[in-house]
Amino acid sequence: MPDDLSPPLLDRLSALLGPRGILTEAADLEPHLADWRLLYRGRTPCVLRPASTAELAEAVRLCAAAGMPLVPQGGNTSMVGGATPDEGGRQVVVSLARMNRIRDLDPLDMTMTAEAGLVLKAAQDAAAEAGCLFPLSLGAEGTATIGGVLSTNAGGNTTVRYGNARELMLGLEVVLPDGQVWNGLRRLRKDNTGYALRHLFVGAEGTLGFITAAVLRLFARPKESEVALCAVRDEDAALALFRRFRDRDETAVRAFEYMSGTGVGFYARLIEGGSVPLSTPADHYVLVDLASTRPDAGLRPLLEAVLEEALEAEEVLDAAIAESEAQRAAIWRIREEHPEAQKREGASVKNDVSVPVSRVPELIRRASEACRRLIPGVRPVPFGHLGDGNIHMNLQQPEGMDPAAFLARSHDIMDTVNEVVRDLDGSFSAEHGIGRLKTDMMEGWRGGPELAVMQRIKAAIDPQGIMNPGKVLP
Ligand code: FAD
Ligand code: MLT
Ligand code: ZN
Repeated sequence: MPDDLSPPLLDRLSALLGPRGILTEAADLEPHLADWRLLYRGRTPCVLRPASTAELAEAVRLCAAAGMPLVPQGGNTSMVGGATPDEGGRQVVVSLARMNRIRDLDPLDMTMTAEAGLVLKAAQDAAAEAGCLFPLSLGAEGTATIGGVLSTNAGGNTTVRYGNARELMLGLEVVLPDGQVWNGLRRLRKDNTGYALRHLFVGAEGTLGFITAAVLRLFARPKESEVALCAVRDEDAALALFRRFRDRDETAVRAFEYMSGTGVGFYARLIEGGSVPLSTPADHYVLVDLASTRPDAGLRPLLEAVLEEALEAEEVLDAAIAESEAQRAAIWRIREEHPEAQKREGASVKNDVSVPVSRVPELIRRASEACRRLIPGVRPVPFGHLGDGNIHMNLQQPEGMDPAAFLARSHDIMDTVNEVVRDLDGSFSAEHGIGRLKTDMMEGWRGGPELAVMQRIKAAIDPQGIMNPGKVLP
């Protein structure tokens, strides 16, 4: 018998959802209990797996009537423990995994209406099959879902060109915390009709209701693209290179990612087949990805001209331009395997922070120095979306240090980085969200009227407080 779910409620949910729609066996619950980083491990009486919006709405009505707290879960790749239940054993996990249909794809309107459980990669593939592009792209795209990326307002590798998940969404369908269904699946480019409710649910991390489907914006597929890995002199040179590309053709820059020599070293050492196509190791790298929908965009000459200028200015030390699809993938792999390589190297503390783009070099230098002063021997592994001012200012434990002892310093490390971030007018959470990990930072960063309004919105939409309790708001 699962703990704390009264037999009548369990019976009614079982009758509603059928055997595939409710999991109660310990082995079946297991994958839903801990987060990707293994920061939290909770308990749940059961996992609900509705197959349709109507089923979910009815299940929410039943749970709301019984006052049962609900935790929406997509691919469970949250970096901040957003989709895992707490240790109390009462929070019911609701997986959207079975709601994964594409309801509509219109290459003329350039929209796709997809259910929340659709995996991001499957959405990208469906768009490609129709000759279009769904541009959101991140390392977890083989597992993360449309509901998850919208609920976290995910960013990723192509934000510099196409924006965050929010900017890729036109309409939503939502199951509210009392079980009502709001159908806002409009595919309009213009719709100024009162408060933009859809934007409240994007980035709400499941605290206001369930996103069950969304109208996503599609784009034209690039006809030309170029990818290069550059060893650069230092952080300033990385920024200068970004500016050179942007000044030449802002629309051509699809991704501009920074990596440290330490992170690239971890990749080469810890990831199977991890090779780096440059002969000499460097302290700083940049991955640049250019793309254009014009077949005659001349991206190769543009890339070569900018690199030549930057080599002459001694900003770029060496560069490898991909000559095939396989080489592009190999360069991208260096960047995308950074989280996994860090995981394999031992304990690390992540700081998903953003600053104005112009201040990225200062952020990396100052935060690295401050952390080295705090914990001698700590290894800074900054990497990420330089073009958005979003750096993953991650810190790896000193070699030989007990991982638990290092993780016990997590909050000191986060505070140290955040002090620099605040001084640079940045944010303590750029794209991963607040989840459970950062709720205690909300008061200090968003306190006063901003947090008070958020709390009133939460109380208005979810007066019982059953949606993902303990997440986002302190
Ligand atoms: P989950 O982890 O299941 O849930 C995330 C949050 O959304 C939770 O609060 C959950 O309750 C809520 N939620 C999920 N589905 C719904 C729904 N249907 N309705 C309402 N609430 C819901 N993130 C980035 O932004 N950029 C990156 O570059 C990036 N790279 C990553 C690389 C790796 C290797 C990993 C493991 C993660 C990465 N992430 C990145 C973080 C993560 O992938 C994103 O936050 C992603 O959006 C989460 O999607 P998910 O389906 O796994 O959501
Ligand atoms: C990424 O961009 O790879 C993730 O968002 C960063 C991380 O693992 O810290
Ligand atoms: Zn990222």
